[in-house]
Order: sequence, then structure tokens, then C-alpha cells
Amino acid sequence: RIVYLNGDYLPEDEAKVSVFDRGFLFADAVYEVTSVLDGKLIAFDGHVQRLQRSCDELGIKYTVDADALLEIHRELVARNEVTEGMVYLQLTRGNPGDRDFVYPPEDTPVTLVLFTQHANLLNNPKIETGMKVITVEDQRWARRDIKTTQLLFPSMAKMMAKAEGVDDAWMFEESAITEGSSNNAYIVKNGKIITRHLGNEILHGITRAAVLKFAKMAQMEVEERAFTVEEARDADEAFITSASTFVMPVVEVDGKPLGDGKPGSVAARLREIYLDESL
Ligand code: PDD
Repeated sequence: RIVYLNGDYLPEDEAKVSVFDRGFLFADAVYEVTSVLDGKLIAFDGHVQRLQRSCDELGIKYTVDADALLEIHRELVARNEVTEGMVYLQLTRGNPGDRDFVYPPEDTPVTLVLFTQHANLLNNPKIETGMKVITVEDQRWARRDIKTTQLLFPSMAKMMAKAEGVDDAWMFEESAITEGSSNNAYIVKNGKIITRHLGNEILHGITRAAVLKFAKMAQMEVEERAFTVEEARDADEAFITSASTFVMPVVEVDGKPLGDGKPGSVAARLREIYLDESL
């Protein structure tokens, strides 16, 4: 695989980052995942805009050059012959040369890494069966709107889900669902789509924004508010959204099947609209 590191395209085993890089020592880093379908990048603009916002919120001095980043994404997709999969981008506050809690001087160069991953996104077998989730207390930090690489708790939550024999964990705070381990969470009740409102508690999903726009265009009823674990277990149907899953049905919450226990019609319709509009 050819990866990108600070201006160079390199074979993956030649791409090296310092042990003093703040991404490595402090998770002082932000990231984006952009999906690739049919060799094309999906919702690229949204991802680079959010990258800029993440940097700004953390005071990482970096000005996104969308054209340059698009060129790097395209180059990697081409060189690695990705027709379906993802481009991962990570940007760190760089390498101050020592371990220090204080940020390095603002002119310290950031570290920018991109790589691709092949994946079967369209024919994901979970579309047919739907995903099962458990709920776990959200133990992440309070600025989940910033897309940082501090992913240890989401990773732990995913392992808890695996240990229970299910696919993912929906996290909750004060009995209200925040989001999934790496996706936004939705329930459907009496035809109404309910998903948590934006705030510091969740990542402002690029897929979420698009899906809610399309839902409203299709005259579907949408309510952006916190919903409880109880409401999730009692929903008619449920689903998640993310760059890597698009719209994916959820058929079980905490061992309780939703509706008839099969993927719901609202999720299926939104997935179809999303893919039609994105391709
Ligand atoms: N995750 N919420 C969280 C916590 C996420 O990590 C993600 C994305 C989302 C969905 O955002 P978007 O629609 O912009 O992908 C919501 C990526 C895919 C990941 O970590 O792999």
C-alpha cells in the first residue's frame, strides 16, 4: 500500500513518524474518514470543513487547502486502486522533540498522514440482517464534537458489544443515548425519525447532516432531541449513520428486538435515497 506522509507518497513500511509526535504521546490529533464508492469520494467537502473546525477548536494552526487535500485523496485512491473503501486522514500537532504537556510553538509543522483501506461498503451483509446493539454508559471526554483520535473508550465499548455477541454499543449519558461507538444513532417511533440534537455531546456527522436533509426533502418527520435508553428499547425501528456504513439498520437494543426484529422500512428508504444522491 502507498500512504501519504507530510508531502511524500511512500510504501507503508517506509512511512515513519517520530516517537515524540504529539499524536502518539497525547492523542493530540484529529482525523477524518471519507468513503470511496466507484472510485469516487463521498461528501469530501463536508469532511474537510469538519477537519478545519476540529483544528480550530483545538488551536492547531492549520489552514485546510481543500484542493490540495482533494488531490492527495485522489492520488491515493488511484495509486492503491480503491474502487470501494475509505481514505483515512490524520493530522497531529506535530513533533516538539520532547514530551511536554505545554503545546509546542505555533510554527511547529503538523504531521499529516493519509492512507486507504479497501472495504465492501455497499454489500455489507449487515444490511440484510441489521445490527444488534447494547447500551453502555458514555465515558468519553466532554468535547465529542471534535473528531480527535482519542478512541480508547469507543474501542472498549465495541469490545463490550463483541463480548455480548452483538455488533456495536450505543452510549448513554444521564439515561439519554448520545451516539454509537463510531456512528450517529437514530430511532423511529410512530413514523417519526428521532436523533440527538447537535452539541458538544456528539460528533456532528457528515452523513447525519445529509440524511436529515434528504429525510426532510422526502417529507419524513424528523425530531432532533435526546432520546432515552428506554425509548430505544421500545422503538419501532432504529438505525445508524456514518461515512463507512451510510445508513445501517439496527434490529435489537439490549436483547430486545425492535418491531418484528427485521430491518425497518425507514432505514431502507433513507439508505436508498442517500446512495442515490451521493453516487
Ligand atoms: N466515525 N459519531 C462518532 C463517534 C464517529 O466516530 C463517527 C464517524 C460518526 C459519524 O460521522 P460521519 O457521518 O461524519 O462519518 C458519529 C468514523 C467513520 C470512524 O471513526 O471510523
